[in-house]
Amino acid sequence: MSNIYSAVRLGDIELANRIVMAPMTRDRAGTHDEPTDLMVEYYRQRATAGLIVTEGTQPSAAGKGYFRTPGIHSEIQIEGWRKVAKAVHAEGGHIVMQLMHCGRASVRANKAPDAETVAPSAIRCRDLIPGPDGVPVQTDMPRALETREIPNVIAEYAQAARNARAAGMDGVELHCTSGYLPMQFLSTGTNLRNDRYGGITANRIRFVVETLEALADAVGPGRVGFRIFPGNPLNDVQDADPVDTYGSLLHAVNGIGLAYVHLIHFPTPQLDSLALIRSNWSGPVVVNNNLKLDSAKALLDSGQADAVSFGRPFISNPDLVERFRFAAPLARQDRSTFYTGEARGYTDYPTLTTSR
Ligand SMILES: Cc1cc2nc3c(=O)[nH]c(=O)nc-3n(C[C@H](O)[C@H](O)[C@H](O)COP(=O)(O)O)c2cc1C
Repeated sequence: MSNIYSAVRLGDIELANRIVMAPMTRDRAGTHDEPTDLMVEYYRQRATAGLIVTEGTQPSAAGKGYFRTPGIHSEIQIEGWRKVAKAVHAEGGHIVMQLMHCGRASVRANKAPDAETVAPSAIRCRDLIPGPDGVPVQTDMPRALETREIPNVIAEYAQAARNARAAGMDGVELHCTSGYLPMQFLSTGTNLRNDRYGGITANRIRFVVETLEALADAVGPGRVGFRIFPGNPLNDVQDADPVDTYGSLLHAVNGIGLAYVHLIHFPTPQLDSLALIRSNWSGPVVVNNNLKLDSAKALLDSGQADAVSFGRPFISNPDLVERFRFAAPLARQDRSTFYTGEARGYTDYPTLTTSR
């Protein structure tokens, strides 16, 4: 049995406990997409998690899709993240950066005027995405990447990973869910290419495989994780056969020696992604989605997870680990403050100690 409060190793990263803070976009970056002092404080408050996965962070200006999301492609951004990593480490925590390239899931007004919107194929995302004022609007029409341009996009990811390490991050996590660029390549509905990056499964998984290899080369495989949610339709993504796509992907990257796979688990009668992982992946597994302390412990006890991640509970309970340990009540989060850009609903949730 693995105790949720016991240490665990994910690749090169040694966690003090198995409770991971899931990546959460909070739209609080500064005018240059740099982490602000408010963000430093937010992550510092949550550093008792065994591992923090940062909010989705764009590896390039083109990768931005939402408003006020941070980047890791300029000096000022690296400097901002350095303060975040330092604050988390000073509290004894660990932190990896989630690399999020939105691809076509992007609103024109949210990104720099000269930043392009690119995707595997020129098909617009029909789901609406919030613009600068928070009101959902139509997404930008993407341009299909030329085959010769794809290595450059992969190189931008690798540079972003080096920048993350230069900023003091313990590693990076490749965001392959939620209908963003990697998932756009993986899925039959968004990838209509007829070159070596489209068509048969071996071609559709190639972009993600090559990106993970490039990240591993850049910072070492033991400092690279990746996040998947097979079958997730968010941002207008459909895949004809997620079992085939994700089984093939897991199998293809299993030998790289990556730090972990981070699974958003939403079982359906057609798809049991935990079973998919069991048969195709031998590395560490972090499982997420709507977990409670009991269900999280059951995943660890059954050996299906090496660590478990919590998203929303960490928003309103900065000391979630402590609250679990003492069976203290959990505070509820206020959804209306998820993306406001303000301190309210971000850094003002009390801990058990401060609320006494
Ligand atoms: C406000 C908010 C922002 C999120 N942003 C991201 C993100 O940037 N990257 C990502 O992979 N998942 C993101 N998610 C999904 C969470 O990481 C997590 O998978 C989801 O909240 C389910 O876990 P939970 O039930 O413990 O909250 C976000 C979720 C919320 C609530």
